[in-house]
Amino acid sequence: MKIAIGADHGGFCLKEAINKYLDEKGIEYTDFGCYSEDSVDYALYAKKVAEGVASGEFDKGILCCGTGIGISIAANKVKGIRAAVVTNEFCAEMTRRHNDANILAMGGRVITPEQAVKFTDIFLNTEFEGGRHERRIAQIAAIENGEEL
Ligand code: RB5
Repeated sequence: MKIAIGADHGGFCLKEAINKYLDEKGIEYTDFGCYSEDSVDYALYAKKVAEGVASGEFDKGILCCGTGIGISIAANKVKGIRAAVVTNEFCAEMTRRHNDANILAMGGRVITPEQAVKFTDIFLNTEFEGGRHERRIAQIAAIENGEEL
């Protein structure tokens, strides 16, 4: 499994904790920045991670900003991306099982680094259920392609 990870200054602390977790688990990843708590614009990092996932170069992505919201909105502008903001364990599990989310988004001003690591662990280890959810994912793609539902 190959992971693309990125953050702005508001999510930097979460990204560093997640990188440590990925190192410990031996999970391959590319860190697209940022690399300090200096103020940056989250869309730059959302674009790099989202394009890496959409192209198939990476299996999943992780994005962090202050709330997880801005960076997920930006990532979701890339075709094929389903980025979900997660604030609890239930959502980390369900967004994989039901939404087949391919990017996990979290906020450094909302959750702790320990929670971010826990949600990452759940996200990376939960499979999409398929079945009726396949149809719903296809409908999301149809909206993206300007097709009728
Ligand atoms: C940066 O101050 C902050 O706006 C950003 O990290 C994020 O929370 C936006 O949604």
